Amino acid sequence: MSQEVKDYSKYFIAPDLKAAKKRGKEEVKVLQFEQIPENMRQVGKGKKYLIQTYGCQMNVHDSETIAGIFEQMGYTATEEEKDADIILLNTCAIRENAEDKVFGTLGRLKQLKLEKPDLLLGVCGCMSQEESVVNRILQSYQHVDLVFGTHNIHRLPYLLQNALFSKEMVVEVWSKEGDVVENMPKVRSDGLRAWVNIMYGCDKFCTYCIVPYTRGKERSRRPEDVLNEIRDLARRGYQEVTLLGQNVNAYGKDFTDLDYTFADLMDDVRKIGIPRVRFTTSHPRDFDDHLIEVLAKRGNLVEHIHLPVQSGSSEVLKLMARKYTREQYLELVRKIKEAIPDVVLTTDIIVGFPGETDEQFEETLSLVKEVEYDSAFTFIYSPREGTPAAKMKDDIPMEVKKERLKRLNDLQNEISRKKNEALRGQVVEVLVEGESKKNPNVLSGRTRTNKLVNFVGPKHLIGKFVQVRIDEPQTWTLNGVWVDQEPIARAGV
Ligand code: SAH
Ligand code: SF4
Ligand code: F3S
Repeated sequence: MSQEVKDYSKYFIAPDLKAAKKRGKEEVKVLQFEQIPENMRQVGKGKKYLIQTYGCQMNVHDSETIAGIFEQMGYTATEEEKDADIILLNTCAIRENAEDKVFGTLGRLKQLKLEKPDLLLGVCGCMSQEESVVNRILQSYQHVDLVFGTHNIHRLPYLLQNALFSKEMVVEVWSKEGDVVENMPKVRSDGLRAWVNIMYGCDKFCTYCIVPYTRGKERSRRPEDVLNEIRDLARRGYQEVTLLGQNVNAYGKDFTDLDYTFADLMDDVRKIGIPRVRFTTSHPRDFDDHLIEVLAKRGNLVEHIHLPVQSGSSEVLKLMARKYTREQYLELVRKIKEAIPDVVLTTDIIVGFPGETDEQFEETLSLVKEVEYDSAFTFIYSPREGTPAAKMKDDIPMEVKKERLKRLNDLQNEISRKKNEALRGQVVEVLVEGESKKNPNVLSGRTRTNKLVNFVGPKHLIGKFVQVRIDEPQTWTLNGVWVDQEPIARAGV
C-alpha cells in the first residue's frame, strides 16, 4: 500500500537521454493485476467518473483500462463534467499544443472545483512523466488532487484511496519501466473494434521525440497473452483488432527465452477467426522481409500500413536519428508494393525540423509524390524539453514552417483526392460502425484500408460487413451506395 507522497521528486526522473539509453539491462517482469482491495470495491457506488483522453491510441486504450478499474470500484461513466465526482485528464506530451490544451482545461476546471469541492481532479498519461509539468501543477494548479504516471495505472485503487482521504496533492510517477502488467480490467468503448497492446515503450530515441521518456523502455507482452486476448475478443463478437505499440516491428526483440518476432505474431493472429487485423505503428527500420511475406498472405491482415517517414531528406533523417535513409525507405516501399500491389500507405511527416533547408523540404515533397500516400499526418516540429533536438539550433522562422506545412498539405490533399477518385465505381467491403456524425440517416464505416465510407442503409447493418459501390469520392471520405441486400457472411466468424 502506498504512502501519502509529499516528496514527489524521488518518484520520477526527468527526461535524460544518457540515463535512459543505459536502461534495458534489467529483466522484464510480467505481473498480474491484483484484485481491487476489499475496502475500495464499493467506494464509487452512486458516483460518476469522466476521463478526458488526449494523444494517441495508446492513451485511448489506457483510458479503457482506467475505466475498467473505476468500474470495478463501483463508479459509473458520465460524459458531463458537472455530473462527475472524478475527472481525470489522460494527457499527451508529444507537442507543445497538446500540453497547452491540458493546462487550459485544468485552468477552466478550477471554477467547477470551487463550486463542487468534493470533485476529485486527476492528471495522468504522458505529461505527468515530465518533471517540469509536475512542478507546474504543484505550483500553479493546486486544485489538482492526483497525479500519476504511465507506469502507475495498476496502482490507481491505492492512489485514489490516498487522494480521497488526503488534503495534499497525491503524486506518484515512477520512472521504473521494466514491467508488463497483465489482466487489467478494461471497459472497451466500442463493441466492434478493439485495441490490443502488444508491447509498451520505445527505445528508438528519435531526437525530437518525448515518447521513449514518457513510456519507458521497449517491452513485449508474451505471445500467448496477446493471442488469448484476441481469441477472447473474437469469441465476444469483435470484428476488428488493432495491435498497438510505438514500434510494433520491435516486438519480441526483448525476449531472452524466445525467438519470436512481429512477423511470427502476425502469422499466428492470421489464424484467429477475427475478420480484420490492423497494427500501428511500424518503424521503417525494423520492417523485415518476413513481415512483408506474412502480410502478403492477407486473409484478416488488411492492406493498410502506416509507415511514418518523418522527412524525405537523408540528412534530416540522420539528425532525427531515424536510422534509415531516403533510399532505404523508398526501397522498403517498393518491396511492400511489389508484394501487396493494392496496399494503402499512410505516414507521419514533420516539417521545420531544426536546420531543415528549403532543398531538404523539397526532398520531402518529392518523396511524397513518389510514394503517393493515401493520407498523412503532418506536423510542425515542436521542441520537447530534454530531447536532443531541443538543443539543436532552430533558426527557421515560424512563417516558413507554416508555409511548408501548407505546401505539404496541399500536395497530400491532391494525392489523397486522386487516390480516392480511383475508387469511383468500385465495390468495397465496409464494416459498418454506426450513424454518420453529420447525418443520422447516413451510415458510416471503414474499408479494409481504413477509408471512411458513407452510404444510406437500414440501421440493422450496423456491426455488419456490407458491399458499397463508391460513386462520390472526396478527399477524406468516400460516399457510396449499398449494393448488397444481405450482409456478407464471413468465413471463420
Ligand atoms: N511511434 C510512432 C510515433 C508516435 S508519435 C512512430 O515512430 O512512428 C506520432 C507522430 O508525432 C510522429 O510520427 C511524429 O511525426 C510526430 N512527432 C513526434 N514528436 C514530435 C515533435 N517533437 N514535434 C512534432 N511532431 C512530432
Ligand atoms: Fe518517438 Fe521515434 Fe519512438 Fe516513434 S519510434 S515513439 S517517433 S522515438
Ligand atoms: Fe502522446 Fe504519449 Fe501517445 S506523448 S502521442 S499520448 S505515447
